[in-house]
Amino acid sequence: MDNSPVLITGAAGFIGFHTALRLLQAGRKVVGVDNLNDYYDPELKRARLQQLDNFNDFEFVKADIEDKAAMEKMWAEQGPFKEVVHLAAQAGVRYSLENPYSYIQSNCMGHVTIMEMCRHTEGFKHLVYASSSSVYGGNKKLPYSTEDSVDKPISLYAATKRADELMSHTYSHLFDLPQTGLRFFTVYGPWGRPDMALFIFTKNICDGKPIPVFNNGEMKRDFTYIDDIVTGVLGALENPPVREDHQAPWRVLNIGNNRSEKLMDYVQIIESELGQKAEIDFKPMQPGDVPETYADISAIQDLTGYTPTTTIKEGIPKFIEWYKDYYKIKAA
Ligand SMILES: NC(=O)c1ccc[n+]([C@@H]2O[C@H](COP(=O)([O-])OP(=O)(O)OC[C@H]3O[C@@H](n4cnc5c(N)ncnc54)[C@H](O)[C@@H]3O)[C@@H](O)[C@H]2O)c1
Repeated sequence: MDNSPVLITGAAGFIGFHTALRLLQAGRKVVGVDNLNDYYDPELKRARLQQLDNFNDFEFVKADIEDKAAMEKMWAEQGPFKEVVHLAAQAGVRYSLENPYSYIQSNCMGHVTIMEMCRHTEGFKHLVYASSSSVYGGNKKLPYSTEDSVDKPISLYAATKRADELMSHTYSHLFDLPQTGLRFFTVYGPWGRPDMALFIFTKNICDGKPIPVFNNGEMKRDFTYIDDIVTGVLGALENPPVREDHQAPWRVLNIGNNRSEKLMDYVQIIESELGQKAEIDFKPMQPGDVPETYADISAIQDLTGYTPTTTIKEGIPKFIEWYKDYYKIKAA
């Protein structure tokens, strides 16, 4: 087995943590980088890192990915890295209306800095990075296919993710840098993000507060369980694109569950799992948000055999079990 270290950016984040954990459990060396910013509770990020620290093969570097000097130092001291899973980013559609600069800094400058490091690494194998289903913007055609047009993003977050895909194409074309962009569709599960619906709904119901439901509940999402996502990320990592017919070694793949679930069904499962009815605060559609997402996953399926197996009926209880345990909430 190859035992050169894999670099995971955003390793203290939700998806980065789970990806690092799976690799460490498989016996790989992992170096994680994260700036532990306070977009959401940094304590949760530290608690994830504590889990990773149980492995001798894990090293953590606290740094900003857009800080070129810090990345060079890390590459020299811990690398070189020939496989990189780049997940660090300023996430969230709604917050991009409030703090646009953090998106440009982390998602655009950060992305270029990571690509620069990879391109100057001899024998570099593969950069897998996070894009997002939000690049589909107001796309009406379902399921979303990577063949669909994505040139009209409706949030700055989406625009930065699309910009990453485009800049990646340029680097793959110019420097033969193998890269795969993964368009994630609403990822959920244990250790999940406090700014996402499942966390907010669970917390508010437990605290006896109303839950905000946008577009009067007329929302559908392709919810993807974290373990399925990690399987897809690592499957993609093992299959770098190669230059063919003068095409750059570059691809983007959807990674979803290939089911579009009604948000209100999602709420019902949370209620039944918590044994408590939610007080629902219906709100209008949020700017930048879309009513439905649904992933065509045939490309990643053909490439890696990726077959998501976790339904929301199985996945939501796993999140709630973790939530109650982590926040020490007594059974209702
Ligand atoms: N979770 C989802 O449903 C979802 C959906 C679509 C796309 N994505 C993308 O997947 C990736 C991972 O998402 P996540 O849900 O794990 O989010 P997350 O916020 O939990 O993880 C991102 C991590 O990156 C770190 N980070 C942010 N900016 C940084 C910087 N400039 N330098 C160093 N570290 C920085 C944060 O501290 C955080 O720990 C992100 O790129 C996100 O945009 C996630």
